Amino acid sequence: MPIRFKTLSYIYNKDMPYAHKALDHVDLEIKEGIITAIIGETGSGKSTLVEHLNALLLPSEGSLEILDYNIVAGQKQKFLKPLRKDVGLVFQFSEYQLFEESVIKDVAFGPLNFGFAPEEALKRAASALKLVKINEEFFNVSPLELSGGQKRRVAIAGIIACDPKIIVLDEPTAGLDPKGAREIIDLFISLNKELGKTIIIVSHDNEMVYNYCDETVVLSHGKIVYHGPTTDLFDDKEKLKEFNMLEPQIVTFRNELIDKGFKLSKDARTLKLIAREIAGQVKR
Ligand SMILES: Nc1ncnc2c1ncn2[C@@H]1O[C@H](COP(=O)(O)OP(=O)(O)O)[C@@H](O)[C@H]1O
Ligand SMILES: [Mg+2]
Repeated sequence: MPIRFKTLSYIYNKDMPYAHKALDHVDLEIKEGIITAIIGETGSGKSTLVEHLNALLLPSEGSLEILDYNIVAGQKQKFLKPLRKDVGLVFQFSEYQLFEESVIKDVAFGPLNFGFAPEEALKRAASALKLVKINEEFFNVSPLELSGGQKRRVAIAGIIACDPKIIVLDEPTAGLDPKGAREIIDLFISLNKELGKTIIIVSHDNEMVYNYCDETVVLSHGKIVYHGPTTDLFDDKEKLKEFNMLEPQIVTFRNELIDKGFKLSKDARTLKLIAREIAGQVKR
């Protein structure tokens, strides 16, 4: 069942003189089982949108259907706990929320909170840490002793340990070095491809979005201005101009090769695949 925003609006400081409509009549269906990117300029409403997915924010108008939950503006929500177990939200700069004295305790906090017995919570924490490639030698150190990339992976492990069906990441690679960013990207790809999780990722990194996200949503001033296959967006020069976005380097490269007479299939959209296809067309 897709995630459905139904004419949903969100107003910060509602009924106050400085009220601000951050989401404006959003109608949106996000498919389960795929990777969807949410992009748009700073202040366009990306964080506000994704913070509705686990009911951290409740709609001012309209409603949201997610899994078996229906969140309606003005109605009291009775299912916040199970919803938050099923929909894991990794905040921007999530590492600021690490607070326990050790890495393993921090990651076990979520499962404990959702009612797992201590032993089971620790077991889940250990396997989540393994998945995010944090070695056992770090389990009992303070999260403060880790590198930026490691801290962020520990924060993500805290979400994974609760075994959510949907994982939402708000700018998970912001501020990381290229290697740290790469590790996070590999992680959410494997969560999708190997564990079948629905992934929703807010990002400014259009190269990453182009390479790995199946669908893309573009927000502008609280409204959806594009939603569809990622490649359809980034292959469309008019749209890129309209949304003030740069063409991904790989698209430029691909188009130049096609202009020079190379035949490239629709699927050849990574360096590796393009290299493979042109290798078969050049004479030694
Ligand atoms: N707590 C808040 N109170 C008032 N306005 C806010 C608050 N958080 C965000 N906004 C405003 O709502 C709009 C959307 O913000 P946000 O969802 O954080 O955008 P993005 O994540 O795309 O940068 C912006 O204009 C922002 O200034
Ligand atoms: Mg944001």
